[in-house]
Amino acid sequence: MEVFINKCSSCSVPRFDTKLRFTLVVFEIALILLCFLAINAESHDHQLQQQSAERGSENVISHSCIHDQIIEERKRPGRQGRALLGIPESSLQQKDVKQPIRIFLNYDAVGHSPERDCRKVGDIVKLGEPPVASLPGTACNPYGDPPLYGDCWYNCTVDDISGKDKKHRLRKALGQTSDWFKRALAVEPVKGNLRLSGYSACGQDGGVQLPRGYVEEGVADADLVLLVTTRPTTGNTLAWAVACERDQWGRAIAGHVNVAPRHLTAEAETLLSATLIHEVMHVLGF
Ligand SMILES: *[C@@H]1O[C@H](CO)[C@@H](O)[C@H](O)[C@H]1NC(C)=O
Repeated sequence: MEVFINKCSSCSVPRFDTKLRFTLVVFEIALILLCFLAINAESHDHQLQQQSAERGSENVISHSCIHDQIIEERKRPGRQGRALLGIPESSLQQKDVKQPIRIFLNYDAVGHSPERDCRKVGDIVKLGEPPVASLPGTACNPYGDPPLYGDCWYNCTVDDISGKDKKHRLRKALGQTSDWFKRALAVEPVKGNLRLSGYSACGQDGGVQLPRGYVEEGVADADLVLLVTTRPTTGNTLAWAVACERDQWGRAIAGHVNVAPRHLTAEAETLLSATLIHEVMHVLGF
């Protein structure tokens, strides 16, 4: 600017000197203003871009799966402990009120699994899916390996029959398991009846036929239905369990629990309780 003005002041038109100077100053001010506006506009633009970028990333987060939120929630210190200890505290004040899990136990299949339950000594029953023609070639070794997935024919002994005392221990152990989860686990309760899909069978090794009512009317006051059987196992497998239906959040709503009658003894009671908690944990997906 200085250079320009100096150059012009040396021009040979002194008449226009003042006017020209005035014009130049106005021009200069206008230029500075323009410059200022331009810089401002640019930074404003930049801000806008930044904002939209930020909004973009917010969108990504808010559209991500709800499971991420659940996992984040679980990661928060104290949360898991509180849930495990079952202290309601502030959790009851939350919008999504969680309630102790209601486990419904169905014993209808106990002693009524065709080809799989030991009803009398010397009954030959299926473990897994042994080839029919192989009888008695693939006889189970009750104390041998593999404990769970061996497909074989099992020769029933007196210990494999679930009599009155064994049935009583079964109900006691599973009742305790259900109570343990009631204290340990809070879930968003199922609204109305828990309705199961029309699976032909729920569970493993032939599973258990779902009662029609569970599909049509559903089960009242339940968050999880466990269908119980007492089929023999080999090795030291006390019990096993599998989930057979999950809700849209991946939470199990139906499962099959099998407890070996041979292990329904007074001596195994404590071990059985611990095992059942462990097995139902698996059903729930932990
Ligand atoms: C099953 O076990 C009993 C008693 O040990 C035995 O007498 C019987 O022969 C066995 N049955 C078969 C098919 O192996």
